Amino acid sequence: MSKQFAVIGNPIEQSRSPELHHAFAQKTHIDLNYVKRFAELDAFEASVKDFFNENGCGMNVTVPFKERAFALCHHLTERAKIAKAVNTLWMENGELNGDNTDGQGLVEAIKALNWSLENVNILIIGAGGATRGVIYPLVKAGAKQIVIANRTVSRAEQLVQDLQAAVPEATLKACGLDQLEGEFDIVINATSASLNGDALILPESLKFHHAYEMAYGKQSSFLEQAKQRDIPTSEGYGMLVGQAIEAFAIWNGVRPNLKDFI
Ligand code: ATR
Repeated sequence: MSKQFAVIGNPIEQSRSPELHHAFAQKTHIDLNYVKRFAELDAFEASVKDFFNENGCGMNVTVPFKERAFALCHHLTERAKIAKAVNTLWMENGELNGDNTDGQGLVEAIKALNWSLENVNILIIGAGGATRGVIYPLVKAGAKQIVIANRTVSRAEQLVQDLQAAVPEATLKACGLDQLEGEFDIVINATSASLNGDALILPESLKFHHAYEMAYGKQSSFLEQAKQRDIPTSEGYGMLVGQAIEAFAIWNGVRPNLKDFI
């Protein structure tokens, strides 16, 4: 029988994970079946338990369950502990293990674009779960300074306070969206503004050389402004593929090449 995998969420119809994992499986000659699994809001934990009791091999977790998956795990990777959210689950010796591959997915996507992360100065806009998940992997990949700018400045300050000790080799700073200034190698939009159809206006005086929009397939005023500056830009499809590859590698011990799928 094929190895069984699933992605669990609510809603779940929009998920691209089954098609990605089936494409990786085809390329690496692994026999697996990967399905979408809808869970009612009060049934997430029971659904995970049922899946693994029925010999499921691995599960991805998406909105709104990543924090609850984190709480459910017996064992967590360092990056999952720091993210306080889990998107990849598997069983070992009857105990649930969790990782968060989103941040490494972004790192791999940026590397595939040939944008350097060595000693770079990064501006991340937004201070929600998406930002929390990417800081540690970006620093481990070489970022030297990360400024977190948020509409609600206290959330950015809280994130810096929570995460600075985990990344002593880099400097984290917080500011408000109205205080954006300086020059950055890369600016990352980690807000949900584009997903909500909201505009995000950057000051003309802000200098940056690459722009990454975490959302994909949406109208992004952030990317439009970056494109007007004639600099390299990208949206989040590479990150999506990157996080899926990391999960696939954990479960199957084989790492597909990102560039084959973007
Ligand atoms: P996620 O887990 O995807 O990061 P989240 O925790 O809801 O989602 O965080 C959304 C982020 O987008 C926050 O940083 C939010 O800013 P606030 O903390 O001030 O709410 C930001 N955000 C959402 N809509 C925005 C907008 N229109 N302009 C600027 N920032 C926005």
